[in-house]
Amino acid sequence: MFDIRSKFSDDFVFGVATAAYQIEGSKFGGCGESIWDHFAKNGGTANGDDGSLACDHFHRFEEDLDLLVDAGFDAYRFSFSWSRLFPDGKNLNTKGLDFYKQLLDAINSRGLRPYGTAYHWDMPQALGALGGWTIRDNAERFGEYMGFIARNFGDDLENLVSINEPWCVAWLSHYLGEHAPGLRDLSSAVKASHYVCLGHGLGVQAARAETEKPIGVVLNFTPGRLETKTKINTEALERYEAVTNTWYLSAIIKGNYPDVALQELEGYLPNSWKSDLQNIKEPIDFIGINYYTTVLLKSGGDKFPFVEIIERDLPKTDMGWDVEPAGLRDAINLVSDYAPNLPLYITENGMASKNAIADIDRIEYYKQHLNEVAKAAETLPVNGYFAWSLLDNFEWALGYDKRFGLVHVDYETQKRTMKDSFKWWQRELAKK
Ligand code: NOJ
Repeated sequence: MFDIRSKFSDDFVFGVATAAYQIEGSKFGGCGESIWDHFAKNGGTANGDDGSLACDHFHRFEEDLDLLVDAGFDAYRFSFSWSRLFPDGKNLNTKGLDFYKQLLDAINSRGLRPYGTAYHWDMPQALGALGGWTIRDNAERFGEYMGFIARNFGDDLENLVSINEPWCVAWLSHYLGEHAPGLRDLSSAVKASHYVCLGHGLGVQAARAETEKPIGVVLNFTPGRLETKTKINTEALERYEAVTNTWYLSAIIKGNYPDVALQELEGYLPNSWKSDLQNIKEPIDFIGINYYTTVLLKSGGDKFPFVEIIERDLPKTDMGWDVEPAGLRDAINLVSDYAPNLPLYITENGMASKNAIADIDRIEYYKQHLNEVAKAAETLPVNGYFAWSLLDNFEWALGYDKRFGLVHVDYETQKRTMKDSFKWWQRELAKK
């Protein structure tokens, strides 16, 4: 028996996480075209899949929230769609405003605690067409948008996150080309890596003026490992860490970028970068950690940061990601080294599995990772854990092929079926 309740303090928060574009259905309610609709239309996703229907959560949110209550979760992490609220990037869609008001009422009336994220990747395409995250203007637009979220929804939220996974917004999307807008350009990636931080800082300032609720950011961590610690491998690992795991953390908490990264990238930063850091390091109240995997590295490859990933003989998820639970504790330790005493949440953790309903592998994954969180929480302020994700959903560039849900979704009929992992959580959380 796992006995989750005995491993965590009574006030530890258990929740599930989702994101607007992955579940809502962007064709409903006057939502505008986002950079993800545009990317999907232009061949960026598996099978041409997009989020136009997704899980039809727009119409089924009551039923979906009932599932959360049924499982016994305390909290729900969801995101606001920028494109639903401001379809053309400028003018408010009142239907979008109504939708999130209704959603928040439905969350709060069920006694669930709402953790809202202002940006989980669905920027209006109108702003994407102007240059997306590579231009300063859009960082400023994001700041205003986050102020709007805090003004209109602050009272209904438990807390507010600015941006989900800035590394994905910037590096994965502008350098590795895997996410919208699908660029493979170092100069754009560095600018986006800066402006996403600036957007965060301006957003925190704008939201602070509107609400007293705690405000934070969600960062993703993929710790690197070395097999052989030669000098060149160690330097390669340092470059990898600097662009992947510490760039955003360091900027937001300390107001500087890691030296190792700056040595290569400074020339691509906009002239204002040093003075912007003042705004970027606007104090925050918590950090959310998203964790899925680690990578084994060596020096190599023909592009910055000059690392190659080495295959390991570890269990893999359906994403092909190695399962290494200890990496989650490393991520927690890294964040608390930078930000001692700042409250932390695990805002995402979970796995894609081919097992449609009998997902014993996912139960094992949760157990192993929760054990790491429990150990960390003995000495560090880790206050909650959110499983990714409530429902199978649109897994970005990989479309609907990859299933992360505790609840299976039949995309033909939209029928929801509880998986074994859902029932596992239900049994565990019931043991108060
Ligand atoms: C992190 C992202 O925030 C989420 O949107 C995504 O589905 C999961 N990783 C799994 O890849």
